[in-house]
Amino acid sequence: MTQYVINGGTPLHGTVNISGAKNAALAILPATLLVDGPCRIENIPKVTDVTLMLEILRDVGASIRLLDDNTVLIDSGGVRVGSVAPYEQARRMRASYYLIGAFLARFSSAQVAMPGGCNLGVRPIDQHIKGFEALGADIHVKAGSIHADARNGHLTGSPVYLDVASVGATINIILAAAMADGLTVIENAAREPHVVDLANFLNSSGADIKGAGTDMIKIRGKKRLNGGTYAIIPDQIEAGTYMAAVTAAGGEVTLNNVIPKHLECITAKLTELGVDVEEFDDSILIKREGRLRKANIKTLPYPGFPTDMQPQASACLSCAEGISMITEGVADNRYRYVDELKRMGARIQVDGKVAVVEGVRRLTGAPVQACDLRAGAALVVAALSAQGATEIGGVYHIERGYEDIVGKLRGVGADIRSEEIPEPELLTANAT
Ligand code: EPU
Repeated sequence: MTQYVINGGTPLHGTVNISGAKNAALAILPATLLVDGPCRIENIPKVTDVTLMLEILRDVGASIRLLDDNTVLIDSGGVRVGSVAPYEQARRMRASYYLIGAFLARFSSAQVAMPGGCNLGVRPIDQHIKGFEALGADIHVKAGSIHADARNGHLTGSPVYLDVASVGATINIILAAAMADGLTVIENAAREPHVVDLANFLNSSGADIKGAGTDMIKIRGKKRLNGGTYAIIPDQIEAGTYMAAVTAAGGEVTLNNVIPKHLECITAKLTELGVDVEEFDDSILIKREGRLRKANIKTLPYPGFPTDMQPQASACLSCAEGISMITEGVADNRYRYVDELKRMGARIQVDGKVAVVEGVRRLTGAPVQACDLRAGAALVVAALSAQGATEIGGVYHIERGYEDIVGKLRGVGADIRSEEIPEPELLTANAT
C-alpha cells in the first residue's frame, strides 16, 4: 500500500496548475449518455473517481478514447436499453447515482447500485427520488440496486421543490429533465459551480436549461442533443486546498487555471486569517508571512464557505493564534479527521456540528490515517506546516480527487514523497 511522507516546515514557493473539477467531471461524463454523436471533453482531472466513472461508461457500452491525460472522446451510441451499471464499481462511488438520471433521460429506465463515496454521516437520496417521481418515474430498491422506470414509457416535466439545496439531486433532476416532455422547474436548487458547468455542457449540446447558478432552474426538455467539444471548469476545492497549504506552511504561490470568483468564499476567510490573496483573470497569488489569526467558520451551500474545505481550514486554524470555532452546516458527520490531527498536537473539541479549535504554536509530525478525501487533504495541509515527519496512510482516498498532489507540491518546494509499504499483518485467528 501507498503512504505519503511529508517533512514539514518548508514555506512553499512557485506555481501550481489547477486541474479540472472532479465533481463537474463526475456529472458531465454520465451526461454524455444523453448525447447523439461523439463528445470531446477537455480538462478532465486524472483522478481515480473519474477513471472509475469512465470504466463504468465503457462497461455499459460507451466508446471511450483517451486522447491525452486530460481529454477524452466519448460516444455513447453503443449503449443499449437495459444496460446495467456494474454493481461493484457503481457502489464504490457516490456520483454513480448520476447514471440514474442519465439512463432515465435516455432510455426511460435505469438500474444502478446504491451509491458509495466518502462516509460523511447519513447521506440520503430522498430528494433525487422525489424529483424522479415528480417527472413520472417509479423507483424501488431491489438487491442493493435502485430501479427506476418511467410510468408512461417517458418522463414528463414537472415542478420540483427541493427540501435541501442538494447538489446531487439538482444535477440528477437536470439530467432526467433535459429530454423529458415539457418544462421542469427546480426550486431551492443548488448553486454550486459544477451545477452550472453541467447545465453549460448540456446547453452546448442543444439543451434548454435556464437559471443554473440561481435557486430556480428551468429545463425545457429536448428530443435530441448533439455532441461537440466542452472544457470542464477548474476545481474550486483543489485550488482551495493549495490555498490552505500555503496558509499553513507559509510562502508565496501562484495558482494558475482558476476562476477567482469561485474562490471568493475561501479567499474571504483566508484573508481574515491574515493571508494575502491577489486575484488576476485566471490565476491568484497567495502569500502568507507571520502567525495566523483565529477566525470562525460556518460551512454553507455555495456561495458560502464549502464543506469540502472545512477539514483543510481546520488544519490551518490548528496553528492560528487564539480560539476559533467551526460550525458544519452541510454534512452530517465531517469531523472524523479530528482524532488524526490531534495525533499531531492539534487541540480540537467537537460537539455535534461544532468544533472549537485552540491554536498551538506548531504541529508535530506523526503517523496518521486519511479516512476520506478531504480528511486526507487536511492531513497533507497539517503535515506541510508541522515540525518533523508525518506519514499519511489511506492515501487512495486523496487520489480519488487530487491529480498528482505529490508532484504539484514538490513543484513548489514541499518535502513530500509517495512510498510503497507492506500491508499491516492481519491478526491471526487465535490472537486475543
Ligand atoms: N441530502 C438529503 N437528501 C438528498 C440529498 C442530500 O437530505 O436527497 C442532504 C445530505 O445528507 C447533506 C446535504 O443534503 O447533508 C448536502 O448534500 P448534497 O446532495 O448537496 O451532496 P452530494 O451531492 O452528495 C456533493 C459533492 C460532495 C460535497 C457536497 C456538498 C459530488 C460527487 N459530491 O455531494 O463532494 O461535499 O456536494 O457540497 O459532487 C468531495 O468532493 O469530497 C465531496 C464529498
